[in-house]
Order: sequence, then structure tokens, then C-alpha cells
Amino acid sequence: MKISESLMPAFDDQITLEFASSQAYRQLAIEMDVQDLPGMALWLRHQADEEIVHANKFIDHVIDRGNSPSIGAVDAPAVKTGLSPAEAFAAALEHEQIVSESIRNLYRAADAEGDIDARPLLNWFVDEQIEEESTVGEILARIELVGDDGPGLLRLDDELSRRQGGGTENVD
Ligand code: FEO
Repeated sequence: MKISESLMPAFDDQITLEFASSQAYRQLAIEMDVQDLPGMALWLRHQADEEIVHANKFIDHVIDRGNSPSIGAVDAPAVKTGLSPAEAFAAALEHEQIVSESIRNLYRAADAEGDIDARPLLNWFVDEQIEEESTVGEILARIELVGDDGPGLLRLDDELSRRQGGGTENVD
């Protein structure tokens, strides 16, 4: 079933927000890289790639349903320079909370139209957002626990460097 004309702008906006998320993570990665925290930078770069996968998941869904998605303008990331690791991950968590609410609003809009076909995709994203908020929140909590302990921060940085990248394509 095609997505209705009234619902399509919400899908386009979500696709654009996923690309904006990718840009925000890429900027946060730069912030950590210039502070010689390569593990955090790598973790954030992989997250930037994962946001492209999210955008592609939405794009594939929209095309599969016979609609034509349009990517909107992506503003420069609203990320200040010179962020501490705690500030960087707090910014990431705040961003994820915005994305979660956007997914919920898309879900509400699809439900209001009786768009059952979107439910499996949106359920996947509801789960994904719970996981993303939890993961970023956990990293932030551990950065705060480490506090001013330099060796502790370097150990955490090393741990985060082990995150594997999975490419940017939606392979489902
Ligand atoms: Fe695609 Fe991190 O939300």
C-alpha cells in the first residue's frame, strides 16, 4: 500500500533527521579526535555510519511502497567546539532523545491514518531508539564515573575503540 500524501512529509523529515544525526555524530567524532581520544572518535564515526543505515532503511521502505522519498536540507550540526567527552556524549544523548520523540510522532501519525504497513519498520525503530539512548547513556555515566582520572579515561577510550563498523548500507 502506498504511503498517503499527507503522511509522506513525515517520512521525508525522518529521513532528513537521520542524515542530520549522522552529521552531528561526525562532528562529535572530530571533537574527540582533536583531543587525542581516538577510541571515542572511532565509536562516534561508527555511529555516524549507523545513522546512514537508518536513513537508508526509511528510504528503502518508502520506495518499496511505491513512493518517492525526498531528502531535505541538513543544517550544520548544532555542536559547540571544545566539548569535553562528558559534554560530547551528553549532546549525543540529547540528540537521541529528539530522534526518539520524532519516531514516536511518526508512529502516532501513521497510526492515526491506519497505516499498518509502516508498523514493523516503526516498531524496529522504537526498539532501536531504546537501545541507542541506553548505550549512549551508559557511556556518559562511565565518563562521569571516571571524572578527572586520566588513566581511567584512556582505558575507557581504548575500550570504545573496539567497536566494529558495519558499513552504511541497509542490508535487511
Ligand atoms: Fe537513527 Fe541514533 O537514531
